[in-house]
Amino acid sequence: MDTQLSEQLFTKYSHLVYQQCGINLHDGKKALLQARLNKRLRLTGFRSYKDYYDFITQSENAEEMVHFLDAISTNLTYFFRESQHFDLLQQSLLEPLLEEKRRLGNRRIRIWSAACSTGEEAYTLAMCVLPGLGDLKQWDFRILATDISTRVLEVCARGVYSAEKLEKVPANLRRLYFHAHPSGDHEVAPLLKEVVTVRYLNLQTPFPFKGLFDFIFCRNVMIYFDKPTQEVLINKISQFLAPGGCLFIGHSESLTGLKHSLTYLKPAVYRK
Ligand SMILES: C[S@@+](CC[C@H](N)C(=O)[O-])C[C@H]1O[C@@H](n2cnc3c(N)ncnc32)[C@H](O)[C@@H]1O
Repeated sequence: MDTQLSEQLFTKYSHLVYQQCGINLHDGKKALLQARLNKRLRLTGFRSYKDYYDFITQSENAEEMVHFLDAISTNLTYFFRESQHFDLLQQSLLEPLLEEKRRLGNRRIRIWSAACSTGEEAYTLAMCVLPGLGDLKQWDFRILATDISTRVLEVCARGVYSAEKLEKVPANLRRLYFHAHPSGDHEVAPLLKEVVTVRYLNLQTPFPFKGLFDFIFCRNVMIYFDKPTQEVLINKISQFLAPGGCLFIGHSESLTGLKHSLTYLKPAVYRK
């Protein structure tokens, strides 16, 4: 089994990752890539980094490419992460949007959690919006949750979380929107699953959407992309924001230096 990833192979892998999903693995990320590759090599039985590279770059092995990208992506997330965003949504943005929609007779509300990881962001959004809607039958409300990692999407679709993961969920919402799962963990209520649609989507590919989104959460993923990739992504995303709709990015991310047509609203929130 290889023990050292050569500079030359590291460069090849980082180009591959950049080209496949936009993630920028600079020199400081070599140890991280190697650790994650080791895991994948152990699981698949490959003994050399080069053989594995040659394997995943053959088109007939596209499935292993998905697992490779799964292995190298960082999936940290939690319920109510960067909670200012959810406060803003609930306290300032949702009601005016609903009023405007009622006035126009438009019952459609769409939110997109782009790069949703294991789903905590999408379910947090559902818990924040549902109480404001009153009678759900009056609305056509959906949250789209997408990610490039099929592994995290399975967790998202299953909607089962440990007690530890629920720590940031207020007790009243825990009672309302979770129930005990036979495993001893907690499962999101059917209502939350009903409004959340889980799909695979690589943000580097064209978006397949027909309609526009009222809110787009694209948080803590751009940080892995370089500036040109971020700029292309932000402009692609903007095209799918409804007029007046808002884009939320991570608080450690920034649109500074990127050409875009959105207006700053609050820290890490931009309006079309
Ligand atoms: C750190 S998580 C962010 C989760 C959540 N948005 C949050 O802020 O807590 C980053 C996610 O981005 C996903 N990701 C990375 N590159 C992607 C791409 N090109 N397309 C879609 N998702 C991607 C990863 O799989 C990972 O689940």
